[in-house]
Amino acid sequence: MSKAIRVRNLEYVYPDGTKALKGIDLDILKGESVGLIGPNGAGKSTLLLHLNGILKGQQSSVEVLGMKVEEKNLIKVRQKVAIVFQEPDDQLFMPTVFDDVAFGPINADYPEEKVRAKVKEALKGIRMEGYEKRCSHHLSFGEKKRISLATVLSMQPEILILDEPTSNLDPRARRHLIELLKNLNLTKIVAGHDLELILEICQRVILLDEGEIVANGDARGVLSNKSLMESHGLELPLSLAA
Ligand SMILES: Nc1ncnc2c1ncn2[C@@H]1O[C@H](COP(=O)(O)OP(=O)(O)O)[C@@H](O)[C@H]1O
Ligand SMILES: [Mg+2]
Repeated sequence: MSKAIRVRNLEYVYPDGTKALKGIDLDILKGESVGLIGPNGAGKSTLLLHLNGILKGQQSSVEVLGMKVEEKNLIKVRQKVAIVFQEPDDQLFMPTVFDDVAFGPINADYPEEKVRAKVKEALKGIRMEGYEKRCSHHLSFGEKKRISLATVLSMQPEILILDEPTSNLDPRARRHLIELLKNLNLTKIVAGHDLELILEICQRVILLDEGEIVANGDARGVLSNKSLMESHGLELPLSLAA
């Protein structure tokens, strides 16, 4: 199978001197679903932001779908690699839900009818049909999280990256999201603390701590390893804790 993501020796230091990533090597195959776990501040979000070039490490190499993530490829890379940010306010910036979800399709120069169809389909996917005219900024946090996902689904990416996708979702919205993700046939990376979600969706789990990968393997194997999980500030998911 061909590679979706290839990362070599990725280091990243924030301008204030915080060393967030200390030499990450990572390979993800097309069609894989991978969970990225680790305590707060482990570097999960920082790593994800490198996968479509929002952040750039020094002297490292990040490739997606065979393309180097560098200035001249960024437009193509971002059409293929979609990130749903941890903070929905970082994603939503247009006056209405329609404008936010239509932003990608409009920029891709789709005709008006196709734009409308894409928006409708994306909102249906997250069970928020009829929200087109609502003001993005007045939605609840959970609603904003779901609309954020719609803004990238409307572009049909090949790699979908979700940072803490279920935080603040109510149980029904969470369940819908899990079913939606299960049915999406693309490469997925899911970061966060919802280990049950990761267990349901991901075959593989990567555990990150202090900017380094400390485990990388079969999801059930990593998530059920009590001493490993606890030594990195995590707990076993309830369903594996028995
Ligand atoms: N904009 C920033 N400026 C400086 N330090 C940051 C910034 N964003 C994150 N960090 C730091 O980088 C480290 C990794 O953070 P982050 O990638 O957000 O971790 P995680 O997503 O795993 O919680 C932490 O020590 C965090 O405090
Ligand atoms: Mg984070």
